[in-house]
Amino acid sequence: MTAHLRRRPLISGNWKMNFDHFEAIHASRDLGLRLTSADVVPVDVTVHPPFTDIRSVQTVIEAEGVPVALGAQNCAVEDSGAYTGEVSPMMLAKLHVEYVIIGHSERRRYFAETDELVAAKLHAVIRNGMTPICCVGETEAEREVGLTKDRLADQVEGAIGGLAPEAVAEMVVAYEPIWAIGTGQAATPEDAQEAGGWIREVVGRVAGAEAATAVRIQYGGSVRAENTAELLVCPDIDGLLVGGASLDAVAFVAIIRAAADAAR
Ligand code: 13P
Repeated sequence: MTAHLRRRPLISGNWKMNFDHFEAIHASRDLGLRLTSADVVPVDVTVHPPFTDIRSVQTVIEAEGVPVALGAQNCAVEDSGAYTGEVSPMMLAKLHVEYVIIGHSERRRYFAETDELVAAKLHAVIRNGMTPICCVGETEAEREVGLTKDRLADQVEGAIGGLAPEAVAEMVVAYEPIWAIGTGQAATPEDAQEAGGWIREVVGRVAGAEAATAVRIQYGGSVRAENTAELLVCPDIDGLLVGGASLDAVAFVAIIRAAADAAR
């Protein structure tokens, strides 16, 4: 195995606000029919359905042995209490959710999530024994004026500043440039690597060298089977966070197989 693949690749499907629970049952069974245990020997795979689908998808995954881990797209800071409309991380863990996306750019933008809130949610996920996937990424305007590195450093420092290095080592950071999300215009491998390398450097500054070496860094934004291998050969890209293409089992399995081939 080549040096850059020391970290086990993580391929995650973020369903966003798509699929009611019937459609989610169909989608997860479809995935289970296409994906074999052999496909996932060299990679980890997660799916992140909407909250109302999670119990249904859990049942399919566990009953049919679908070789993926269950994820969520967000969670509350507190485990229980008077927080109308929130979803508890403790309750997600009870449903065998293993990974939770935190601070997706759509949450930062449409729901005003700050770096401070993102940090509190990371603590909540870790406290409940789950793995956070913390999203960071610059806007097109920030990129155009050369602020990408500053923005990423601010977001990474704000998110992980208060975490134990051992917790940082186990987590996932997803680099999702906002201009690449849902646009069909993925970052080039050079840009993805530059950002991934920079994120690892900032993690090292904040949490130490061991955490920086261990943390998994995903790329997200218009990932398809066709660009999977070129993104995953980047030394500092350890996985992919897939939006639109994860809604189609054929496309998602093609990405997983391309990732597995790149990891072998
Ligand atoms: P797309 O793959 O649809 O560009 O979405 C990326 C994303 O936001 C995943 O979280």
